[in-house]
Amino acid sequence: MLERLQSITETANRELESAVGLEAVEALRVKYLGKKGELAGIMSGMGKLAPDERRALGEKANVVKAELETKISAAILRVQEAALEAELKGARIDVTLPGRGRTGGHRHPVSQTLEDICAVFARLGFVVEQGPEIELDWYNFEALNVPADHPARDMQDTFYVDGNTLQASHANPVVLRTHTSPVQIRTMLNQKPPVRAVMPGRVYRKDSDQTHTPMFHQVEGLLVDTKVTFAELKGTLDAFAKAFFGAKSKTRFRPSFFPFTEPSAEVDVSCVFCSGKGCRVCKQTGWLEVLGSGMVHPNVFKHAGYDPSQVTGFAFGMGVERLAMLRYGIDDLRTMFENDYRFVAQF
Ligand code: FA5
Ligand code: MG
Repeated sequence: MLERLQSITETANRELESAVGLEAVEALRVKYLGKKGELAGIMSGMGKLAPDERRALGEKANVVKAELETKISAAILRVQEAALEAELKGARIDVTLPGRGRTGGHRHPVSQTLEDICAVFARLGFVVEQGPEIELDWYNFEALNVPADHPARDMQDTFYVDGNTLQASHANPVVLRTHTSPVQIRTMLNQKPPVRAVMPGRVYRKDSDQTHTPMFHQVEGLLVDTKVTFAELKGTLDAFAKAFFGAKSKTRFRPSFFPFTEPSAEVDVSCVFCSGKGCRVCKQTGWLEVLGSGMVHPNVFKHAGYDPSQVTGFAFGMGVERLAMLRYGIDDLRTMFENDYRFVAQF
């Protein structure tokens, strides 16, 4: 048997040296080292031998196996090099060409901005809440003190969802939410006061031009407790502006109207492009509008199951694309949604 082992080694070596192509080498590997190969055949007969002979044969077989494995690895290298050389001769591969760089992924500026906004509020103790994009009219309007036929509904041109597919009724239509404010209601219905939450997400409106797209993102904020004042609203949003746009930025509160807040204010920040001196972007005013806000309307508390004689609160809603445009100096909102990697990779 020892002799047979020796002769197997010799033939295997010869065959490996003259093998052409990966497949031929693989076939030899199977022939000699495979489960039903030559070596396995010898090992299976070992049981009949005397213990001394068995040990000697076993040792020798292991040496032969290791040798063959080394020879096979060498043969694989050799045939691969040969194949490459053949291709080079046929000029199918030009190894002198510069390699293609790997392009890694990249955060979209809207995602980055959204995360940064939430991170600023996280430091102020706000948790993140979320709600559905396909929403009942009741949460999107009614509970927010915007009854049917109220003129305020025209402020946000609404996409209605086909009633047959979503079990909507005439009394409770289904909409694509026009703002993140319905999440205020869902959050309050789900927990007792106090509340301190931000609610990021997509919203939809029939709107399309250089500064409006039919889908965009908002971050809603809601803080409810006993004796919350307008001064806290101002302080919170001013702290946000300074954290997001830089310590030197200023805020300005202008009286405004939203059905779900009273009083209401729109908030401007000093223009990030001219630091308030006046330029093309801020239309020479020195200020840029970034969000809507106000003290939560008592009717909203009632709809959400809170007692307006016990709690007060403030809310705000900001447009994420607007903030991203200001931060990165982008002048056309629509570039955000064209999925052009060259655009995304700039930020
Ligand atoms: C609202 O949506 C209110 N829900 C905000 C609010 C929340 C007020 C809580 C008070 C309390 P408004 O329609 O103004 O408000 O939208 C808020 C922001 O969304 C705007 O300031 C703007 O930055 C952004 N925005 C509005 N429409 C579009 C649009 N079509 N495309 C991109 N951004 C938009
Ligand atoms: Mg507005």
